[in-house]
Amino acid sequence: MSDLQKKNAGEAAAQYVEAGMVVGLGTGSTAAWFVKALAARNLPDLRCVPTSERTADLARELGLTLSTLEDTPRIDLTVDGADEIGPGLALIKGGGAALLREKLVWEASARCICIADAAKVVPALGTFPLPIEVVAFGHKTTANRIADVLADHDIASPARVREAERGLIRTDGGNLIYDAACKLIAEPTRLASDLKSLTGVVEHGLFLDLTDLAVIGTDEGVYTINP
Ligand code: A5P
Repeated sequence: MSDLQKKNAGEAAAQYVEAGMVVGLGTGSTAAWFVKALAARNLPDLRCVPTSERTADLARELGLTLSTLEDTPRIDLTVDGADEIGPGLALIKGGGAALLREKLVWEASARCICIADAAKVVPALGTFPLPIEVVAFGHKTTANRIADVLADHDIASPARVREAERGLIRTDGGNLIYDAACKLIAEPTRLASDLKSLTGVVEHGLFLDLTDLAVIGTDEGVYTINP
């Protein structure tokens, strides 16, 4: 994990934003560099839709004009981080527990740019545990059903509920996160659809066919990957 690489990616992605745009602001340490670089550009007439309360706080502090998906349902460009970037720009996201709002904003965007440090680029998805957002009511029952789905995908270990010292982690929407140590996700599209079909699963961190460009930070600068 390199802060310089994240900074380089965030700053390079800010150059894709134009005056007057509606911009989706991602969540996480890399997205924070983008938000800072965007604010520093001082472009006129921007409206920004944050993907988490954390990002909203940062953007507000930096003087960016905030909007919501309700007020600006069509977003011109979203820039956000990722936990893993696999072949075809298939992503795992949600390490920061913001996957649901992130996916809503991404899907409302004409263009999505993923920014990351070089270590996030992988030959196959699955080393980073896949976050799955689950409704708190009956979550252990839902977890059993998730385990069945994972077993059907040759993933032996059940997903674990995410907790901190003070208790279970809650998302901005009040839900829980389960993390599935998949090791290898051989069929991301089928896994995405099988998880989404479970009652109690709100969303998962597989972002497939949503990324238009990845801007990868290196110690020297950036390089880009097209899908
Ligand atoms: C937030 O829920 C995530 O999707 C982040 O975009 C992802 O975890 C990347 O975070 P970092 O930029 O902090 O590595």
